[in-house]
Amino acid sequence: MTAGATYRVATVPGDGIGPEVIAAGRTALEAVGRAFGFAFEWTEIIAGGNGIDTWGVAIRPEDVEVARGSDAIYLGAVGGPKWDNPNAPVRPEQALFALRGGLDLFANLRPVRVHPALAASSPVRPELLEGVDMLIVRELTSGLYFGKPSEERSFEGGRAAIDTLWYTEAQIRRVVRLAFQLAQGRRSNLVSVDKANVLATSRLWRKVVEELRPEFAGVEVTHQLVDSCAMFLVTRPASFDVLVTENMFGDILSDEASVLAGSLGMLPSASLGERRTAHGLLGLYEPIHGSAPTIAGQDKANPVGTIMSGAMLLRWSLGEAAAAASLEAAVSATLSDGFRTPDLMPAAGGPGLTAVGTRGMLAAIVDRIAITGAAPRTAAAQDR
Ligand code: IPM
Ligand code: MG
Repeated sequence: MTAGATYRVATVPGDGIGPEVIAAGRTALEAVGRAFGFAFEWTEIIAGGNGIDTWGVAIRPEDVEVARGSDAIYLGAVGGPKWDNPNAPVRPEQALFALRGGLDLFANLRPVRVHPALAASSPVRPELLEGVDMLIVRELTSGLYFGKPSEERSFEGGRAAIDTLWYTEAQIRRVVRLAFQLAQGRRSNLVSVDKANVLATSRLWRKVVEELRPEFAGVEVTHQLVDSCAMFLVTRPASFDVLVTENMFGDILSDEASVLAGSLGMLPSASLGERRTAHGLLGLYEPIHGSAPTIAGQDKANPVGTIMSGAMLLRWSLGEAAAAASLEAAVSATLSDGFRTPDLMPAAGGPGLTAVGTRGMLAAIVDRIAITGAAPRTAAAQDR
């Protein structure tokens, strides 16, 4: 936090609903900046499918350098049917991997909370949703997403393909250590998720967790197999505090957990590494949803996941914890006051609910930003 600061944020709007939700997120961040006395200098990076159309590649190396030199990166979503050919050598998702991997943003934080007013928007029974407040820590720069070889091969029997699941102990240790630290700042409960009954990488993962355990004596840590974890996420979701897991398990479990929050459109994420800027940790902030091409350009997208990612950006990369808490409180008040984008509207409607689009939701949130906003919890506790 720096009084009167101008923060340099690189935006990557991407494809589909990406540009709409990033526009909403920028407006929300500008509004909170005005209330708290700081400003933004935005640089837009053309990437994803848009990058392929414009430059012939998902993201240009010089744009990865622009991202590296900024205080934070704010990304919408990439991909769409136009670029869906699985055999194409360039794919929109390569932009994500170039940023995540290129900037060494190895820890992906995906907090899952259930706003009480949204219990009716989730297919899970309301009594199971009470008190859900978990943080999924997904390893983001290794595992199947980055392992080589990853290719289709011909052999005498026909076609075959190979992907490589590879982890070094250093890669496991840094993300598990962060998860332990985050658990210390929360309810001191850590679940490490793996498939140690099958995978060698999971058995190494368990060893590393066990080696770190003595350093964090106050944290209760358990190992859980990913298949049973997937079940417990819907049968007893409130029992989870911090989960830590490898890249692909984290991808799958976080979409599953979003069902608890009422919609995939609700969940934010932060991807962090170890690189410090003048104000905080360099980070990439994006909603966990995709580019939703079928609703793009129709003012239907839920901007909450992106706006809540903006709050994480304020906290982690800019050190603006009070502004982050104010933005989160404004989102919470907007939901309490009954504003619902289409994805959140219960099929039967409901008394006191107001149907809004992306812009209506944003306007309601901006209206509720207050300097002395009654943040329900202390700022530091929010996504820690
Ligand atoms: C996510 C997304 C991406 C991922 C896709 C778009 C490659 O699902 O951020 O969770 O798998 O990491
Ligand atoms: Mg995903």
